[in-house]
Amino acid sequence: MTELRVGVAGLGTVGGGLVKLLATQRSVIEERCGLSVLVTAVSAKDRSRERGFDLGAAVWHDDAVSLAKDENVDVVCELIGGIGGVALEVCEAAIHESKHVVTANKAMMAVHGARLATLSEDKGVGIHYEAAVAGGIPIIKAIREGLSGNSVSGVVGILNGTCNYILTNMHDAALAGESRDFETVLEEAQKLGYAEADPSMDIDGVDAAHKLAILTSVAFGSVIDFDSIHVEGIRHISAVDIEYAIELGYRVKLLAIARKGMEGIQQRVHPCMVAERATIAHVDGVNNAIVVQSDFAGTTIYEGPGAGESATASAVASDLVDIARQHRTPTFSVPTTQLEKRSSAPMEQISGPYYIRLMLVDKPGVIADIAACLRDQNVSVESMIQRSRNPGDAVPVVLTTHEAQEISLQRALHSIDALQSVLETPRMIRIEEI
Ligand SMILES: NC(=O)c1ccc[n+]([C@@H]2O[C@H](COP(=O)([O-])OP(=O)(O)OC[C@H]3O[C@@H](n4cnc5c(N)ncnc54)[C@H](OP(=O)(O)O)[C@@H]3O)[C@@H](O)[C@H]2O)c1
Repeated sequence: MTELRVGVAGLGTVGGGLVKLLATQRSVIEERCGLSVLVTAVSAKDRSRERGFDLGAAVWHDDAVSLAKDENVDVVCELIGGIGGVALEVCEAAIHESKHVVTANKAMMAVHGARLATLSEDKGVGIHYEAAVAGGIPIIKAIREGLSGNSVSGVVGILNGTCNYILTNMHDAALAGESRDFETVLEEAQKLGYAEADPSMDIDGVDAAHKLAILTSVAFGSVIDFDSIHVEGIRHISAVDIEYAIELGYRVKLLAIARKGMEGIQQRVHPCMVAERATIAHVDGVNNAIVVQSDFAGTTIYEGPGAGESATASAVASDLVDIARQHRTPTFSVPTTQLEKRSSAPMEQISGPYYIRLMLVDKPGVIADIAACLRDQNVSVESMIQRSRNPGDAVPVVLTTHEAQEISLQRALHSIDALQSVLETPRMIRIEEI
């Protein structure tokens, strides 16, 4: 074989970026893998759309599934997107035809990845998905290959660029003495193209959870388990929380966390306060970062662009080069028959320090009532900030706790919420040591 014939299904941001990269880097890639990597077939929804790049002699398929079956295609790149539907059909058809698949589709991999990996193993082909997690950061290869001599104990990541952009913007505004609320910054992010018209998958944490499900499987050799991830987004993060975080020496980040413990694997996505001194606290804007804790390499950190045409195309291209080099690795670090079905650690069992913000009626005995609710659940207070006020006005009170169990903290917040002097539902943000 002197060439690897690639079918590209989906010619949007990633597919278009891939076609451009393969044209620009043609000789470099050929030198590196000893084969020409050529686009021989393409498919998208709208054939008449002006795409601004040359499709050369590639054969157009109106039906992406027929592209997967095209006999002039050795590898199928699924760059359409969506959990199921045509994207899944394309991957299944390609594997059925004993063709390798490359995909950037985290949603599909998080939900159907285990089954697709089994199907591809049975057919002796690979399903590659470097672009599905953290765009241009080669984190799948880093964990699966670079750290293959280690046992990984934890993975902590900033995996959603939209959320990181919003939180960074709110932080910068607070530092500059302006107060910018979540909705205002979201609108601006939409205008700049950093947030989708329907941003819910990003800001509600689902996109980060899809990526976390994949990373967990690679890191711990476990069966993908998207459904047991605890997911919270950033909608409730207010400008005032960002200001208090700065005052307390923290930055607010949406983190995706997977840890292996005695009780099983803990997987969670939620906003966290991280110490200003932590490296991950300074990963700003749309960038992504992943911290991997392992026994021999120790703590390693990977940072870079988590999305975008060029960065994501770079990840897809690296998978194509692996295929051209006949570099074979198990889909999720071990063959699918050896993936373990590990129990998931319930959220109530996690422990750590917490930030709590309350809005109280300022009258004698209120703080004592709050302290009693916390004491009754064995939650001890580390610090308290109470702003000056006019007598009788509502007053914000912020507490940080020493390490406490999530279940105790939740019970304490429930009791606090029931107090008459508490005017708003208490706000809580977990403080994460990294
Ligand atoms: N964008 C990023 O930075 C990024 C980063 C990492 C991973 N990803 C993942 O990469 C995948 C693609 O994302 P994207 O941003 O490139 O999406 P996109 O810009 O919306 O492109 C989607 C492409 O799929 C085509 N398409 C839609 N329905 C189709 C169908 N039934 N048959 C054939 N083609 C069809 C569209 O055709 P038309 O062009 O004719 O409409 C379009 O070319 C997704 O899984 C996404 O999660 C994206």
